[in-house]
Amino acid sequence: MSLWGRIFAALYEPVLRASERNGLADLRAGLLAQARGRTLELGAGTGLNLGHYPAAVTALVLTEPEAPMAARLEERVRARGASAQVVRAGAEALPFADGSFDTVVATLVFCTVTDLGRSLGEVRRVLAPGGQLLFLEHVRHPDAARARLQGRFTPIQRRLACGCHLDRAIPAVIVEAGFVLTDERHEHFPKAAKVLQPLAVGRATR
Ligand SMILES: C[S@@+](CC[C@H](N)C(=O)[O-])C[C@H]1O[C@@H](n2cnc3c(N)ncnc32)[C@H](O)[C@@H]1O
Repeated sequence: MSLWGRIFAALYEPVLRASERNGLADLRAGLLAQARGRTLELGAGTGLNLGHYPAAVTALVLTEPEAPMAARLEERVRARGASAQVVRAGAEALPFADGSFDTVVATLVFCTVTDLGRSLGEVRRVLAPGGQLLFLEHVRHPDAARARLQGRFTPIQRRLACGCHLDRAIPAVIVEAGFVLTDERHEHFPKAAKVLQPLAVGRATR
């Protein structure tokens, strides 16, 4: 991992703090209240979702491919005395058997995965029939001019934020991957730049 990757991991929570305090943490909590059964989180970062999982979650696996983030995640799991398992893996190749989870969670991660279609194929594979994908993602703006602006800023954002794309139409790709969207709404990303608007928050079933 590059020096910038280590700096990004160290700066991640300070940079996001104002957003978390002004509504992002509440959006996480509202989404994750729906988690149940064997639950897998993709690209869990430093573990900002950890405190939001409800008792209906019977087992929790947190994946994270980048070593500096994974080290922080492991530390947070230890500090909270949580029973979650941390697995260092990317979403494009999940080291789990077919149908092994009831819920998969992705928050602010499908913007960053290298191959979105392949990652969603993996999510489908590891979900049991009737399983759910819960997502909270910044996505391409529905207004064409705003989407063009996001496209122009994406090369810079990718460098600054370790591969993050501003202009991915993530809910549409979720549907293309064979999921049924049962719930999707747009929210304001609190205290975030215009190019990071809007957030798509929702649920899709396999
Ligand atoms: C913006 S952070 C979001 C972290 C966390 N999910 C959250 O909600 O705060 C993006 C995360 O995706 C991880 N990531 C990068 N490439 C990935 C991949 N191919 N598969 C899964 N996660 C990836 C990054 O290391 C980082 O932890």
